[in-house]
Amino acid sequence: MECVDVAENLRGQLVDSLLAANVLRDPRWAEAFRQVPRHAFLAGFFVQRPDGTWEPVTSEHPDHLALVYRNEVCVTQLNGDDRAWEQALATGSVTGVPTSSSSMPTIMAIMLEALAVAPGDHVLEIGTGTGYNAALLSHVLGDSRVTSIDVDPGVLARAADRLAATGYHPTCVAGDGEQGYAPRAPYDRILGTCAVSRIPSAWLEQTAPGGLIVTTLNRVIGAGLVRLTVRDGQGIGRVLLEDGRFMPLRAHRQSWADDALRDALTAEPAGSRTTLLPSRAVVDPSSGFEFFAGLTLSEVATGADPIRLVHPDGSWVRHRGAVVDQGGPRALWDEAEAAYRQWRALGKPRRHHFTFTATPTEQYFALDGTTLTWPLP
Ligand SMILES: C[S@@+](CC[C@H](N)C(=O)[O-])C[C@H]1O[C@@H](n2cnc3c(N)ncnc32)[C@H](O)[C@@H]1O
Repeated sequence: MECVDVAENLRGQLVDSLLAANVLRDPRWAEAFRQVPRHAFLAGFFVQRPDGTWEPVTSEHPDHLALVYRNEVCVTQLNGDDRAWEQALATGSVTGVPTSSSSMPTIMAIMLEALAVAPGDHVLEIGTGTGYNAALLSHVLGDSRVTSIDVDPGVLARAADRLAATGYHPTCVAGDGEQGYAPRAPYDRILGTCAVSRIPSAWLEQTAPGGLIVTTLNRVIGAGLVRLTVRDGQGIGRVLLEDGRFMPLRAHRQSWADDALRDALTAEPAGSRTTLLPSRAVVDPSSGFEFFAGLTLSEVATGADPIRLVHPDGSWVRHRGAVVDQGGPRALWDEAEAAYRQWRALGKPRRHHFTFTATPTEQYFALDGTTLTWPLP
């Protein structure tokens, strides 16, 4: 009983902070966040230590509830392999790359608000994860209106169990969300809770006319949320001002980047010079230029300590304070600097000044009030 009160109080504080930050506005979602017990979906998760390793937290942990009700992502799987959890329990910590999680409540709230659901809407969620978001959707729309799909059958089965245990029964499907889920289409809303490199054509086909797709685009520089209205098989809409970063759809991971970033640590540069453009202007999402930089540096991956940029064509950049080393077929930092000059000349547009268009054959960003477009690679 005491534990329930503690959880309820912590949940209330989290909701109040989301309301105060104005990321939560719709009373239906606020009520759902107050009622749905996040801790029931997070009986076990990983917390990252300062050294980068992952420590397991179970419901036995004295701070379990406090950790669950922080406004933080809770990672529940590493490396797409449940054995990492067993190993972490046995040894105290493990290394790995997150592959499933309960997303940060702020970003969940932003995306749920952006969905602008009406009673009776059918929603397809891509990436069931823990099931927590599917529970919020079911709370507001009703079980029969919610379909959630996850590529990992083990993750999906655990989520379905937790959903049932908390009294929610949306349709849970194990499968590749890139294909959507045709048997229950059309959907009034499709919500991508894992990032996509481009909008899958199945999502365009399975969205009802006038329906919305809300998802994050998987871009290392300039990632973000888009909200598209679908008509005649095309999705057109705005890049949202709020930043949103998610783990990518499994097939959309940039696995080439690890090798390229390691090579860029020691590669011999074709040229070295000083630069007036700070690296953080390009790689830090809180910089106003970052989104625009991502349009020019669209396939670029980044690494820290030292800051490095790499492109699949073999081009690379390495920062050493104000000195920048470059190599490979293109001078990527020269391109970043040229993009910065163009951004200033355009009046420093922010992410919400851009639209995104997705058709089955082409997908591109465009800047309001201009004819400038940037196709996805
Ligand atoms: C950030 S988690 C989703 C969070 C979830 N909505 C929640 O409330 O806990 C991303 C999920 O996407 C899943 N995923 C990755 N690739 C996928 C794909 N191709 N189709 C469906 N799900 C996928 C992962 O297994 C992972 O569980």
